[in-house]
Amino acid sequence: MPKRVVVAMPGDGIGKIVLPEAIRVLDEIGFDAEYIPCDIGWDFWINEGNALPERTIKLLEKHKLGLFGAITSKPKDKAALELSPELQNKGYVYYSPIVGLRQHFDLDICIRPCRSFKGNPLNFIRNGSKGGFEEPQIDVVIFRQNTEGLYSGVEWTNPPATVRAALETHPKMKKFAHVASEDLAISTRIFTRGACHRIVSEAFKYARKHGYKSVTVCEKPNVIRETSGMMEAEARKVASDYPDIQLWSTNIDAQMMWLTKNPEDYGVIVSGNMFGDIVSDGFAGLVGGLGFACSANIGSNCAVFEPTHGSAPKYETLNPSIVNPIAMILSACMMLNYVDESEQADRIRNAIAKVITDGNVQTYDLMRIPGGQDVIQHGAATTSQMTDAIIANL
Ligand code: NAI
Ligand code: MG
Repeated sequence: MPKRVVVAMPGDGIGKIVLPEAIRVLDEIGFDAEYIPCDIGWDFWINEGNALPERTIKLLEKHKLGLFGAITSKPKDKAALELSPELQNKGYVYYSPIVGLRQHFDLDICIRPCRSFKGNPLNFIRNGSKGGFEEPQIDVVIFRQNTEGLYSGVEWTNPPATVRAALETHPKMKKFAHVASEDLAISTRIFTRGACHRIVSEAFKYARKHGYKSVTVCEKPNVIRETSGMMEAEARKVASDYPDIQLWSTNIDAQMMWLTKNPEDYGVIVSGNMFGDIVSDGFAGLVGGLGFACSANIGSNCAVFEPTHGSAPKYETLNPSIVNPIAMILSACMMLNYVDESEQADRIRNAIAKVITDGNVQTYDLMRIPGGQDVIQHGAATTSQMTDAIIANL
């Protein structure tokens, strides 16, 4: 009997390509696990009216540990048009299955590390203050609240009269009084004190465990006073238990500007759902982009690990595949840390670092050339050649 069972959710497009590559590395490193493949994604929306079938939820409820590739997601009107004819007009509504998983399992802690590998040609460089260039070593870990805020799904176009009436108790709704309800779209930004407290606490715990000197709350409390304000207030409370770690506060807009000015100054960053999404993509862009951006979605009872990239449909059918498997493999490393196999995780990360520094095996993104089947003629490694190189360096 293997020691662990991992629910393997490849999803769509390149999710189906990179997930098996990560499992190949996990097998090579000796991670003692069985992988149960299961259904999630666009095909299940089209054929069943549900991109996240109940059987997948059941499996994850049982095993509590998942690896996820990527899914294709489309706005609800477009999605409805693609539903198979016998399911059309039967009331099926498309929801993103990864957002669904985060909400169903209350995977409220999203961790997105952005660390530069030495020698990565995609690392951010800037003009040095004394001439020449500087390549700052970036080591930032973003803690994103994963279940609430603007992505909680509480939204309407043409809100029901009761909702409208409730909103109109707020004096600032006066300026919308003349707008017809069908011309009114409302997406709510709900923060709860419990969830704010939990994400900030996890951020501080992580900072102490891994020796970061600061935790930065990245929100916008001067304008979004209630929700961002609550996150800041909880951060101040939690920070009082961590006198050894500085609490910094930045606004999301200014933080995006400072990204390229002094990214090396930041350690752990904590944000609500949407700002966490934005700031983590921003930092990922400084350390190699989507081919390197890994993440963990962690709840109190279940965890799912996934690259932050999507299904990249234009590369789905290329044979051999050319996409970079590193983001997925780094996500698998986060899973190893979660199940206390940190030594295995370190060995994989070191092997990736070696492949990057050597520079002999590079997927097209590392070569900074446009993707396409011809990249192989230009010397780019295929997806599986990149995995092979990592395995060879384990
Ligand atoms: P995407 O992340 O799928 O791809 C954007 C571009 O980034 C690609 O065209 C490619 O040039 C590059 N890229 C992505 N992953 C790469 C890799 N591993 N190696 C090398 N290059 C890579 O985002 P896009 O095109 O905006 O969305 C495509 C679909 O994916 C959409 O349906 C979207 O909704 C969905 N999506 C799903 C996510 C998830 O499953 N968590 C996250 C983001 C988008
Ligand atoms: Mg994103």
